[in-house]
Amino acid sequence: MNAAEIISRKRDGLALTAAEIEFMVAGFVDGRVERPQMAAWAMAVLLRDMNTDEIVALTQAMLYSGQRFQWPSGRPKVDKHSTGGIGDKISIPLAPLWGACGLDVPMISGRGLGATGGTIDKLESIGGYRTQLSMDEFREQVNSMGVVIAAASAEIAPADKELYALRDVTGTVPAVPLITASILSKKLAEGLDALILDVKWGNGAFMKTSADAKRLAESLVRVSATMGVPTKALVTNMNQPLGKMVGNCVEIEESESILRGAGPSDVRELTLRLAAEGLLLGGISPDLQSAITLATNKLDAGEAWEKYEAWIQYQGGDRKQIVSRAAESVWRADRSGYLSTIDTEQLGYAVIDLGGGRRQQGQAIDHGVGFEIEVRLGDRIESGQALARIFSRSGVDSIIKRLQAAFVISEQPPQLEPLVLEESGLFKLGTSADG
Ligand code: URA
Repeated sequence: MNAAEIISRKRDGLALTAAEIEFMVAGFVDGRVERPQMAAWAMAVLLRDMNTDEIVALTQAMLYSGQRFQWPSGRPKVDKHSTGGIGDKISIPLAPLWGACGLDVPMISGRGLGATGGTIDKLESIGGYRTQLSMDEFREQVNSMGVVIAAASAEIAPADKELYALRDVTGTVPAVPLITASILSKKLAEGLDALILDVKWGNGAFMKTSADAKRLAESLVRVSATMGVPTKALVTNMNQPLGKMVGNCVEIEESESILRGAGPSDVRELTLRLAAEGLLLGGISPDLQSAITLATNKLDAGEAWEKYEAWIQYQGGDRKQIVSRAAESVWRADRSGYLSTIDTEQLGYAVIDLGGGRRQQGQAIDHGVGFEIEVRLGDRIESGQALARIFSRSGVDSIIKRLQAAFVISEQPPQLEPLVLEESGLFKLGTSADG
């Protein structure tokens, strides 16, 4: 096969065969397809799109570029993937909650990407917690105690690692077929019985409009279900941070408060809702209402907390050695009115300014910096009221300037969007209906 010919066919809007897609992916990994060719192909995909059969072929090629977990029969294996947001710490309470309800959670997670935080970075606020596990260690922990959250090892979907790095520098990240295959090639390597997707929309998300988020959700559900994994997606609101805490150690603190039956209501609600969807799809509960009841009971009875402590300890973490918050400054309102908009992405960039996220790959981060946001969209604000606490190692003048630009206080209260906007149905297994 000839890479230039395959690129030209996609450039002209034609559907590629599975063999052509497999050639591009395998060829990129082994050097037969050169980087400029792969970049041109990715751009052609971005501009010309792919049908479901093509995305399935791409996901398969990327998945089979590495190894996959296979599990002996036992407790159902379930995972959740979020497309990323600000203050999104849900995986941390959700994984042990699922574990307490009878599911196994073999979760491979990521670091911060762009303005959004990453579960692996947050967990590294806990002294000793090991995020890099070998395939054997990962397998052993799932079999022994049922809950793992670790970074992807080199054996998992290596083609995605290469292609993602190329997309990052060629303007080809925001292509639904490429995002779908990238996410699913890693998640399906976990050998799951069910997958729950939290596709974020809004000004703190990758997908700025609910229409784009819905399109991504449908693509993810359709491809994942076609590949044999029952999958459900929720499209959820990221027009303000999830919960109050944004950063690393502070998000561990907030996750722990959720596991103790307290914490902000939006984080609790979304944790319980996603937990219930997993209990339903994983075959533990017969309907959503009984799934919500089971998850609520396990959370409030302290069983999810016990599972959390067991999991963190099993993975080497010492909860007595969680990084402490940096010094606190309070940012106050300089006018009265209603909080009408938060440019949520700016909060993510502000965490990077504080040193809590990366400007370059591999950069060390400060787990003790971040924010506690004291107000929610629609709140009545009085001049002088505390809007946020800033945890910082140095002066906060430039941070406050960024916050002032990001938080809009108006005369009129805003129209509020719901936390969960849409559900993307579970497509029938084995179907590949397009569009
Ligand atoms: N997250 C991924 O893992 N891949 C993408 O392409 C986008 C977000």
